[in-house]
Parts: sequence; structure tokens; C-alpha cells
Amino acid sequence: MAKIIVLMGAPGAGKGTQARLLQERQGLPQISTGDIFRAMKDAQTPLAEEVRAIMNSGKLVPDEVTIRVVEERTSRDDCKHGYILDGFPRTTVQAAMLENLAVEQGKKILSIVVDVPFEVLEKRMTGRRSCPICGEIYNIYFKPPKNDNVCDLHPDAQLIHRSDDTVEKAKVRLETYAQQTRPLLDYYQKTNRLHRVDGTREPEAIYPDVERVVKSDE
Ligand code: AP5
Repeated sequence: MAKIIVLMGAPGAGKGTQARLLQERQGLPQISTGDIFRAMKDAQTPLAEEVRAIMNSGKLVPDEVTIRVVEERTSRDDCKHGYILDGFPRTTVQAAMLENLAVEQGKKILSIVVDVPFEVLEKRMTGRRSCPICGEIYNIYFKPPKNDNVCDLHPDAQLIHRSDDTVEKAKVRLETYAQQTRPLLDYYQKTNRLHRVDGTREPEAIYPDVERVVKSDE
């Protein structure tokens, strides 16, 4: 049965980094609700403005908007044989919606949490930079680009520092995570679908653990 891989973890835990590796090496599409919302940044619609303001505050976009986005994206052809959700679900309402979607699509949910202590997360977020062309993720502390502030693969591209990656906003995001999203770990644990990986190691050391879960037949 095709799988829906739910990558969970606090902001900055490395969900996007692992999801990109899985996409490259397993050919499963990475669906990041955060990336989809950020891609709305230039749209001049009331919805895009609302989403921008909410993301800048570190809070969550309303469930009905997020759910619509996920339903639309996962109905595309490339998701037929499974997909990776990076940053969804984040609330109990979203988790319930995903259960229905999985039944409708005939897929099984597996959840992987990338475990990183809260004190490490701030540097991961404030140090993050990404390429506006290929999305490659860097970190000025842990994975600096070869040349200051430009992508290794796209030397003409200045790296982006996300507007919600400041110290203040990182704090709000961590609080939002603790209140609204962390309880979902219990939910997946109780239904025997939670797999923990130690996210304090290098990305390449973490990846085989993630891949093992994805390939498991349980
Ligand atoms: P989103 O974009 O999903 O952000 P997030 O959950 O806060 O997660 P991040 O992207 O910050 O971190 P990550 O775990 O992907 O880490 P990464 O791999 O980049 O969401 C942004 C906003 O959108 C939300 O605040 C909300 O407003 C809205 N939103 C999104 N989804 C929503 C939903 N479902 N419902 C409602 N609202 C929603 O790594 C971080 C850094 O650490 C990088 O610099 C990286 O190079 C480095 N790093 C990664 N792994 C390692 C490692 N193993 N060792 C050392 N450094 C590492």
C-alpha cells in the first residue's frame, strides 16, 4: 500500500532537510505547507496577505485554508504512489482530516519525528539560509555555503533569510509547536504509527534511519 510519510518535529528540527533527501533518493514528492504558503508571497490577494501576516507572527494558518491546500496538492498525479508531508498536520483538526484523506486515497500513514532538544533549535532557525532557485538549505553555523551568502549550485543567487527566522519569532513558533502540534506525537504513538529518529546528528547520519522507516513494510 502506498504511504503518506508525515515528517514531524519542532521548527528547525530538520524536517525539510530530510524531506529533500527522501525526495531526491526515493522519488517521493515533498509537500511542505510552509513552502506552499511562502510561494504565495508575491500574490496580491486578501488570502495571501492574511497568510503572510500569520506566518510573520509565528502562529498557524487557519485549518480550513491549510486543509484545502493539502487536498489540492495531494490529488495531483505525482502523489499516486505516496508522498511526504513536511509540516502537516500541525493541529488535531488537520490530523483528523488526514485520516479521512488517507482512507479516500487508499494510503497508509507513517509518522516520523525528528527529535532535537529545544535549546539547539534556535541556532538552526536563526542560522538558516536558503537558495531562492533550488531551495537548497544552508546554515551559517552548521552548513555554511562555500561563498558567503550565495548558493553553491547557483552562484548568482543571494541566499534568503526567512522573515520568521528571527530570535523573537523563533520563540513564538516554538511555543505554538509545543501547544498545538506536539500533542499529535501522542496521537500517532497511541496508534502505533510513530517512529522517532535522533535529529542531533549530521543530516547524512540521520537519513538512513528515516529511509528505513519509509521502506518498512509494517
Ligand atoms: P514551515 O516552513 O513548515 O516551518 P517550520 O515547521 O517552522 O519548520 P522549519 O522550516 O523552520 O524547519 P525544518 O524542520 O524544516 O528544518 P530545516 O530542515 O529547514 O512553516 C512556516 C509557517 O507556515 C508556520 O509557522 C505557519 O505559520 C505556516 N504553516 C506551515 N504549515 C502549516 C500547517 N500545517 N498549519 C498551519 N500553518 C502552517 O533545518 C533548519 C536549519 O537547521 C537549516 O539551516 C538546516 O541547514 C539546519 N539543519 C537541518 N538538519 C540539521 C542537522 N541534522 N544538523 C545540523 N543542522 C541541521
